[in-house]
Amino acid sequence: MGEILRMEHISKQFGDFYANKDINFDVREGEVHTLLGENGAGKSTLMNVLIGLYQPTEGSIYLRGKKVEIDSPAEAVRLGIGMVHQHFMLVEAMTVMQNIILGDKRYKGIFIDHAARRKEILELSWRYGLNIDLEAKITDISVGAQQRVEILKALYRGAELLILDEPTAALTDIEVEGLYAVIDKLKAEGKSIVFISHKMREVLHVSDRVTILRAGKTIQTLAAGETDGKELANLMIGRDLVECEYEKKESTDEPVIELRNVDFNKTSKHNGLNDVSMMVRKGEILGIAGVDGNGQSQLSQIVTGVSMAEAGEVILKGCKVSHVTAADFIEKNVSHIPEDRNRMGLVGNMTVEENLLLKSTQDCAFCDLNGWHLKKKAMRAYSETMRAKYDIRCQGMDQEIRSLSGGNQQKVILARELEAKPDLLVAVHPTRGLDIGATRYVRDNMIAARDAGCAVLLISADFDEVLQLSDRIIVMFEGKVMGEYSGKNPPISTISLAMAGK
Ligand SMILES: Nc1ncnc2c1ncn2[C@@H]1O[C@H](COP(=O)(O)OP(=O)(O)OP(=O)(O)O)[C@@H](O)[C@H]1O
Ligand SMILES: [Mg+2]
Repeated sequence: MGEILRMEHISKQFGDFYANKDINFDVREGEVHTLLGENGAGKSTLMNVLIGLYQPTEGSIYLRGKKVEIDSPAEAVRLGIGMVHQHFMLVEAMTVMQNIILGDKRYKGIFIDHAARRKEILELSWRYGLNIDLEAKITDISVGAQQRVEILKALYRGAELLILDEPTAALTDIEVEGLYAVIDKLKAEGKSIVFISHKMREVLHVSDRVTILRAGKTIQTLAAGETDGKELANLMIGRDLVECEYEKKESTDEPVIELRNVDFNKTSKHNGLNDVSMMVRKGEILGIAGVDGNGQSQLSQIVTGVSMAEAGEVILKGCKVSHVTAADFIEKNVSHIPEDRNRMGLVGNMTVEENLLLKSTQDCAFCDLNGWHLKKKAMRAYSETMRAKYDIRCQGMDQEIRSLSGGNQQKVILARELEAKPDLLVAVHPTRGLDIGATRYVRDNMIAARDAGCAVLLISADFDEVLQLSDRIIVMFEGKVMGEYSGKNPPISTISLAMAGK
C-alpha cells in the first residue's frame, strides 16, 4: 500500500500551550488509521491542522510524497481531503441534493445542470452503498442518514482521504453496522480513512492501525491485529483501568417525579409521548432504554420543565406541575445533563468559570447587593476546586468554553449539575463522546448521587450503559412505554425485542 499522507513533527500552540507537540502520523492508501486518545489529547486539533482550519506552529504535511501547504479548508478539499465533523454541518431546511452540491466550485455558470449532477451523485451513492433519498429534507431524515449525506458530500467533492471524527457517537446499533459496511466499500475502492473514536471494541473492529496520542504527543502506532483493548487503554491513559460492576438497588422511597398518562405531540412516533406513565424514586436510577428518536428527547423536556405535558399529570416532589419554566425546576433542585451540550448545556463564548457558575448567579457565596457586586475571589476559588475535582483539562478559568475538547466541556456540565446536590438528576447520553476514563468517572458519580438519595433518570442510547447503571429499566418505543424490568439480572433479549417494538 502506498502512503497517501504523512504529517511530520507537527506542533500546534495556543498561546504557550501545546495542543499538539511534535506529532508524526501517516496514512496509507486503502487503510483505516485510528487516532486514539483521552479527551483533550489533541486529536481534533491535529485534524483541524490537516484540513487547513489551523496553521501548524511547526511541522510539514506531505500528500503522496509531495509537500503541501494547506492554508484553508477549500485547499484541503482541492487536495482530496474531506472531513465529517461530529456535529454535522448541513443546512436543515434544504434537501439532501441541495446540501451535497452546495458550494461546489467545479461549475461556475448560472445554470446548474441538475440532471447531470443527480446522476453523478446517484452513481456515487450506489457505488458506496450510501442509500439516501436525494429529495428528502435534512430535518426529516435520521442522524445516520445525515451522516451518509456528509460522507456523500465529501466523496462528491473528490475526497481520497476521509476524516471521520467520532462518527458513531450518535448512531444506533443498526446504523453503526451500516457505517462499517460503507467503510469497507471505501477501503475496497482504495480510499483512506482517519477514524476517531473512544469505543475500544469499535476501534479494534474497523482499524488497520492505531496511533495513540496523549497530552498532545504521539505515544505509539500499532497494528490493530496485534493489540487488544487493554493494551490500548493502558497506552492511552497511562494506567490500568479495572472493569467494574455496580451494585443494583431496589428503592421503596417516595417518588421524586411521577408522570401519569402523559401525552405530548402524541401523533408523532419519533418526537412524541403517548400515554406515558412512570416514576423515579429517591435513591434509584431509572434507565430508559430505546433506540434514539422514540420520544426520549420529549421525555427529557417534560421532566426538566422545558415543555409542558399536553395531557396527563406531572408530579414533582408531591406537587402537581401546572405550568412550567425550566427555572422552577432548577429551583426545585432538578439537574440536567442535556443531550446536546453545545446547544443546551453551555454558553460557547463564555469562559469555563462563567459556565461553571451559570446556575449560581443568585448565590450569596458569589455575589451580594442583588448581583451588583461579584465576589471574584470566591468565584475563582470555587471554579479552581471544580477543575481539580472533576479533572477539567483546560488552560485556565478564563478560557472560552468552546475551545475545550468535547469531553472536557461535558465535565464542566457535570461539575455544575452535580455540585447542586440535586434531588432529581436527568442525565441524557451522559457519556457520549467521553473517553473511557471520563466515562468511568461520570458513571461513578451518578452512582454516588444515587447512593446519596438522588433520583436519577438516565436516558441513554448506549444499551450497555443502561444495563450497567440502572436499578430499573423502562423501554420506550414510538413514544410509548413498552415494558418495565428489574435492573438486577435484566432479561436482555426480551428488552432488546421491546426496543424494536416487539
Ligand atoms: N482554539 C483553541 N484555543 C485554545 N485551546 C484550544 C483550542 N482548540 C483546542 N484547544 C485545546 O487543545 C487541547 C486539545 O483539544 P482537542 O479538541 O484537539 O482534543 P481531542 O483529543 O479532540 O479531545 P475530545 O476527545 O474530547 O474531542 C485541549 O486542551 C483544548 O482545550
Ligand atoms: Mg475532539
